[in-house]
Amino acid sequence: MSPADTANAIAVCIDGPAGHGKSALIERLRRDLGALHEGGAEVSKRSDGAPAASAVAPVTTLLRVKTPRREILIVDAAEPRERLRALESGAAGGIAALLVADARAGAARKLGTRLASLQVCGVRDVIVAVNKMDLAQWHEERYAAVRDVATEAAGRLGVRLHAIVPVSAQSGANVGTRASEAPWWNGPTLAEALEALRPSGRAAGGPLRLPVENAVREGGRFIATGRVESGSLAAGDAVLILPSNRTATVAGFAGGPVSAGMAATGEAASVVLDGAAAIERGDLLCSPESPPKLTSVFDADLAWLGRGELASGRPFALRIGPREVGARVTAVHFVLDAEDGARRVAPAAGEGDVARVSIRCDAAVAVDDASLLPATGRFVVLEDGILVGAGAIDASGYPDQRRARHHAGDVVPVRHQVAGPEREARSGHSGAVVWLTGLSGAGKSTLALALERRLFDRGWNAYTLDGDNVRTGLSADLGFSPADRQENLRRIGEVAALFADAGMVCVTAFISPYRDERARAREAAGKRPFIEVWVRSPLETCERRDPKGLYAKARSGALKGFTGIDSPYEPPDSADLVIDTEHLDVEASTSLLVDFVVARCRRGPG
Ligand code: ADX
Repeated sequence: MSPADTANAIAVCIDGPAGHGKSALIERLRRDLGALHEGGAEVSKRSDGAPAASAVAPVTTLLRVKTPRREILIVDAAEPRERLRALESGAAGGIAALLVADARAGAARKLGTRLASLQVCGVRDVIVAVNKMDLAQWHEERYAAVRDVATEAAGRLGVRLHAIVPVSAQSGANVGTRASEAPWWNGPTLAEALEALRPSGRAAGGPLRLPVENAVREGGRFIATGRVESGSLAAGDAVLILPSNRTATVAGFAGGPVSAGMAATGEAASVVLDGAAAIERGDLLCSPESPPKLTSVFDADLAWLGRGELASGRPFALRIGPREVGARVTAVHFVLDAEDGARRVAPAAGEGDVARVSIRCDAAVAVDDASLLPATGRFVVLEDGILVGAGAIDASGYPDQRRARHHAGDVVPVRHQVAGPEREARSGHSGAVVWLTGLSGAGKSTLALALERRLFDRGWNAYTLDGDNVRTGLSADLGFSPADRQENLRRIGEVAALFADAGMVCVTAFISPYRDERARAREAAGKRPFIEVWVRSPLETCERRDPKGLYAKARSGALKGFTGIDSPYEPPDSADLVIDTEHLDVEASTSLLVDFVVARCRRGPG
């Protein structure tokens, strides 16, 4: 095959709900497509084990159609592992899908789910074959009904529909030859649509993303090799390296096809970097102005193909480009119903399900939202090296965990003349942070203020920092975006640590939805006791209480980014104390809390 053919080759995965005529269409393509293109057309059955003829060959193809203009590999997408392998192999021409739909009534609903599943697996280019048009008497309305459903779903999912062709796999009409039965159709036949298909590929422009496949040190420089997945880079550019959060300067390019001093989207490059402290496989070179998010937690739509159920806690390896980390699901929010595409609340995803999940990785990874930058927004899931799933990231609800370091070594803390033990000896208790976390309406403020009262009555020094109060002063400049919440919690963590250092029991009442930010507050407290208390009440209960009417506002859409509704809450996995305010009344909850805090902070005989 000539290089032109290779570049032109395309892998198309064929998919569609059972009974919509997928096998009949494959059979029809096998029979008719070769005949369509006289001289040079060649159709062969399964090509398993055949030597790789093109860059798209490593998948098991059902059918290989070679026309004068291009080679088309038909992959069975109903076998999702094949679809994933096609995706992973980075098919040269991209991977597209041929979705088979039944023209008859009722069938269109399943189409959206099918499209969603393909989209999660990274397919962005789709041709729909509206099959069984003969059984629908070639009525245009039947075709139009399917077309409208597909168009709506594709628009919502960001999938590009290249053609929606009415066909009959049974008779072959509009597959290879034009259907005389449908004078109203003046679009392409299926064969023409397949020939004309130009997958979207990588979008040029956009911020720089270069996943490092390999890195070597040469003298004082590093040479990082990989493919530019987004944006471009040129000599003299500053690049940010993640996860290390260091910057370096592009000195030039080593060997390879990049000779003009610039690497564009889609090109492989060996980048010579000046000033890089260290760089290794799995790092991401990116634009310092528009970096991805560095985070160990994100939400994702996950197509699960492993054995058994995927429930919270099951460990796996997660791979984004060359970066691989250990990870696990921390919550399954809902499963897309295969029948009607509805969101079904379920504790786990079954094999073949597409589920909305939260994922926590063992280390921070640089990610983009898949809807914006698919190359760094998609991942695959492996168990024992075997591909068991694929997903699309939505990290929009979580903050960036890159830590800004504003000061270097020229800040020197002073030592107080009053030592901690002196304060304790006088007050009879240690300073401490009692960190209450939980949903809005769970009872944090109520418990915090009751605890403060009871401690004060014992003669202790205690003070409450409460969410709404602090947000009218210290954090009056902050809203509820993930970054603002992160900053809010950073401030509270630091202030609470100062209070504790001053010998107070500082009680904090903030939603504090992010596990990592709570861990950071604990770190800020240093050696002082830090008591993390999960004030636990299910969302439904908090919503029923709705003391400030904010849940109602959030449900109506008038309030965006409300915790528990459209902004995440990560429950603690190892709280020091859990108070179940769904079942305990205020008095019982307060006593539990007071006893716990007193036992932990009492010093001396008092
Ligand atoms: S946190 O996420 O940064 O910890 P914090 O506890 O300070 O939140 O503030 C929560 C309080 O702010 C809620 O009790 C509620 O009164 C108010 N609020 C206003 N908008 C939101 C929102 N989008 N999400 C959560 N709380 C909100």
